[in-house]
Order: sequence, then structure tokens, then C-alpha cells
Amino acid sequence: MNALGVGLIGTGFMGKCHALAWTNVAPVFGDVARLRLAVLCDVTQPQAEQHARAFGFARATTDWRALVDDPAVDVVSVTTPNALHAEMAIYALERGKHVWCEKPMAPALADAERMLAAARASGRVTVMGYNYIQNPMVRLMRGLIEAGEIGPVNHVRVEMDEDFMADSSTPFSWRSEAHSGYGALDDFGVHGFSLIHTLVGSIARVCGQMAKPYADRATADGMRRAVETHDIASALVELENGASGLVSFNRSAWGRKGRIAVQIFGAKGTIAYDQEQFNEVQLFTAAGPKETQGFRTILSGPHHVPYGRFVPAPGHGLGFNDLKVIECRELLARIEGQPSWSIDFEAGLRIEWVVHAVAQSATAGTWIDVPA
Ligand SMILES: NC(=O)c1ccc[n+]([C@@H]2O[C@H](COP(=O)([O-])OP(=O)(O)OC[C@H]3O[C@@H](n4cnc5c(N)ncnc54)[C@H](O)[C@@H]3O)[C@@H](O)[C@H]2O)c1
Repeated sequence: MNALGVGLIGTGFMGKCHALAWTNVAPVFGDVARLRLAVLCDVTQPQAEQHARAFGFARATTDWRALVDDPAVDVVSVTTPNALHAEMAIYALERGKHVWCEKPMAPALADAERMLAAARASGRVTVMGYNYIQNPMVRLMRGLIEAGEIGPVNHVRVEMDEDFMADSSTPFSWRSEAHSGYGALDDFGVHGFSLIHTLVGSIARVCGQMAKPYADRATADGMRRAVETHDIASALVELENGASGLVSFNRSAWGRKGRIAVQIFGAKGTIAYDQEQFNEVQLFTAAGPKETQGFRTILSGPHHVPYGRFVPAPGHGLGFNDLKVIECRELLARIEGQPSWSIDFEAGLRIEWVVHAVAQSATAGTWIDVPA
């Protein structure tokens, strides 16, 4: 197979994360197609050129369409703000390029649906940036459930908390503007839905609530502007397999830095996990004598695929950027027609449906069905 050519749009938090993944996927896994870091794009030429040098890309541009049109580019990383994903991903798919797109698909459901239509029409591969499902401990959790270790799952609870909007004096920014989306629900809580989708199944019905901890924020000109998005979102959920659930997302939760607390309750046991200690899983099984029952901690190690590709020793731990390397490996697997542990635009749209159903429910004050 010819070396795949990579185009990267955006060089911020996620742009760097994708660049590290593209650089590290071959040495870490050793079994993937060769890659060429072809073209990188950002809004100013100095910024693009500086990052192209730092990340090892051959060329830099400020024109993302030129990047996509470049014959040296076969696969495009879209790491720009949410409102730009649809236009960039659709343009790339229409020109026969594979797309690795950051989450969520798009603020508007109609745009996400157009992204899926473009993917179907192109026959090209798409993968969404739902990196938390790439944690080897999440695969372990899925394996434990499939093996019946906790019996049939009857309840799932996901709490996701960070504090980057907790300070009431944080100035008004795009995060508080309605065009950026709903707020905590789609900018952030989508990761929680990706975990439920991966571990337990599809969500069939939701009853949502969204809240604004602060009604307004200071603007640069010394005035105050009303906050248009919701920094807190919660929902009761019912899954297609009959399990019930509860999700709660808060980006104004002081002290919480990257908490994704997942609890999965079954008829014979419980699995608990927290992204802030993501190299371990807690497992309780109701088997054996009551005197010695209790949660036990399973620490990550080479037995947890693909941990061993990074480190041969147990207990040394993976980090956030490693999850993106694994996601990149799963994208390359899809391109090669192999099985892939990833969320494409088909599965991604199911998550978008859940998001919009929660928002609709919060406004209507009733349960809302998620399209099947
Ligand atoms: N998967 C995750 O865990 C995760 C974490 C954070 C952010 N995200 C997602 O990643 C995306 C980017 O977020 P971020 O935190 O990296 O933002 P960021 O602001 O750090 O980076 C965005 C980049 O896009 C560039 N950009 C903006 N408009 C552009 C244009 N027209 N052409 C080329 N480049 C352009 C910016 O200059 C910047 O380099 C968002 O969709 C966000 O939701 C995902």
C-alpha cells in the first residue's frame, strides 16, 4: 500500500493531539500503513508554518480547501471549533478523502445528518474523536460485561465534571454563545454518551434538564452579556435493552478537572471507573463469601489490549495523548477494511440524536424518544 498522506486542519489542543497520534501510531503499533505528514493548516501563515515545523508536516497553508484538494492528502484531521466541522468534513468526503473529525459532529442536527449523507455517498472512512472509549480499561469493562461478570446490566450512571467555566468572573466567550451549541451537553457530555453507547447500548428515551449557574458574564468593554448556553445538563435515560440510566454533565464544577465517573450496575455486580484515575477499574462481584466481598482494583497492564504496545510493564500507566494514538490506529484499521473499535459518522449521529433529544426534552419538560 502507498504511504497515506495526512492533512491536519487546526493546531490547538486537539490539533497537537492528532499530530502526536499521526507521528506515534507507526512506532507504537508497528503494523500500520506508512504515513506522510503532508499539509497542515491554520488561520495565519506564521502560526501554520511554525506548527508545520514543530509537528513535522511538509507544507503549511491558511486555506483549508487547498489542503483538502492537495493530491498529497488522503486523510484529513478536522480539529477546528465545532461550528466548522460540517463544512470541512463534507468538503473532504466529497473529494474522496477519509475524515478523522473531532467531536461533536456539528452544533446543528441537520449539519450532522448532512455529514453522514456525505460519508455514505463517498464510501470513505470516518472516525469521530471519542478518545475516551479508546482506554484499554474501557475495553476491559466491555469484556467484563460481555463475559457476564456483573450479570445483565440494569442501570448505568455517568457523571462528567470539569471546572473551566466554574469561575463566575471568567469573561464572556464563544462558549457562552448559542451558535456554539447547547453548552455542557454537546461540547462535553457527548463523551459520556459515547461511553454508554460503547459499553451498554443505544439510548431510546430521555428526560433532560439544563441549567445556567451564572445568568451573565463580563464583556471586554466592561458591560455584562447574558449567557446563552447551559454549563450544566442532566438527563434520565432509558436504553433500548431496558436498562435505566442517569447522566450529569457540569463544566462549572469547582475542583473537578477531568472527571468522567462511570458506574455500571448489573444483577451480579458493579463496575466503577473514573477518568481522573483512568489506569484502573473497580470491580465488585456478588460471588463468594459475604465476609470477603468488596470492590477490587484492577490496574492497567499489558494484558489490557493495546496497553502492551506502549509499555511492557504493568502499572506504569497510559496518558490522555495515548488514547488518540489508539484512536488513530483504529482509524487506519477502518481504512484497511479491518474491524475497528471506533465511532464513525453512523454511530456518531446516534449520539447527536441523543443530544438534541435531551435539549428538546429540557425545553418541553417531558420525556422524548430518540430516533431508532
Ligand atoms: N476529543 C477530546 O477529548 C477533545 C478535547 C478538547 C476539544 N475537542 C474538540 O476539538 C475541537 C477543537 O478544540 P480545541 O480545544 O483544540 O480548540 P483550539 O481553540 O485549541 O484549536 C482550534 C484550532 O483551529 C484553528 N482554526 C480555527 N478556524 C480555522 C480555520 N478556518 N481554518 C484553519 N484552522 C482554523 C485555530 O486557529 C486553532 O488552532 C473542537 O471540536 C472540540 O470540541 C475534543
